[in-house]
Amino acid sequence: MKLYRALDYKDLSRKAANLIAAQVMMKPDCVLGLATGSTPIGTYEQLVEKYQNGDLDFKEVKSANLDEYRGLTKDNDQSYYYFMNHHLFKHVNIHLENTNIPNGMEPDSKKECLRYEKVISDLGGVDLQLLGLGHNGHIGFNEPSESFDQITHCVDLTPSTIEANKRFFEKAEDVPKQAYTMGIGTIMQARKILLIVSGEDKADILYQSLCGPITPHVPASVLQLHKDVVVVADEAALSKFSEK
Ligand code: GLP
Repeated sequence: MKLYRALDYKDLSRKAANLIAAQVMMKPDCVLGLATGSTPIGTYEQLVEKYQNGDLDFKEVKSANLDEYRGLTKDNDQSYYYFMNHHLFKHVNIHLENTNIPNGMEPDSKKECLRYEKVISDLGGVDLQLLGLGHNGHIGFNEPSESFDQITHCVDLTPSTIEANKRFFEKAEDVPKQAYTMGIGTIMQARKILLIVSGEDKADILYQSLCGPITPHVPASVLQLHKDVVVVADEAALSKFSEK
């Protein structure tokens, strides 16, 4: 595992974007595993800037997103489909037909999960998976549980995740209660993983994830077992590392 210490959120975003840009330059037709949440927004801004400066070309890039809320239409501004278009896809020359996100409107969850796993395997797997970190250690929407879920599945969101994500919605009742997410097994099959973490409120969970026991109660702790993980975190998120 490689750990890059960033000064602040801006520095973190620049470092993460540089790592993603390097991946695209080394393999122009790579498969990027993409993430949502507030943390990657700065990274996407930097990628857009690199594209606008002529330093990055997405025309052959393919993508597969980690997760999607269940029950939100694509045009709902809180759907991850909308998020990806708004923050990245519409600003760069990626072909929309090469982008993939679980279909939150598919009522048959078994069918959708199997479809999405096939999409990823037909792409040849993910070259670089970007991840954020939930306050309870979730990655994608793999919530703390008794076992690591292997493949794409439908999850009931925990009260803490609903609480954390309600800031994006008008009222807490509007936050969907379920989501489709790649499984821990799906995520661990990515050839490279880039975890980005910002802010003091993530310091404890980042420390537990990287230095604590490997347990499904802290889903991100499984990353300790992956052979190629890069973590980019800012000083605030790394504050527990300095203390210990
Ligand atoms: C959501 C997403 C995760 C993301 C997490 C953290 O629950 N499903 O993929 O990592 O939030 O979000 P933030 O970066 O806003 O803290």
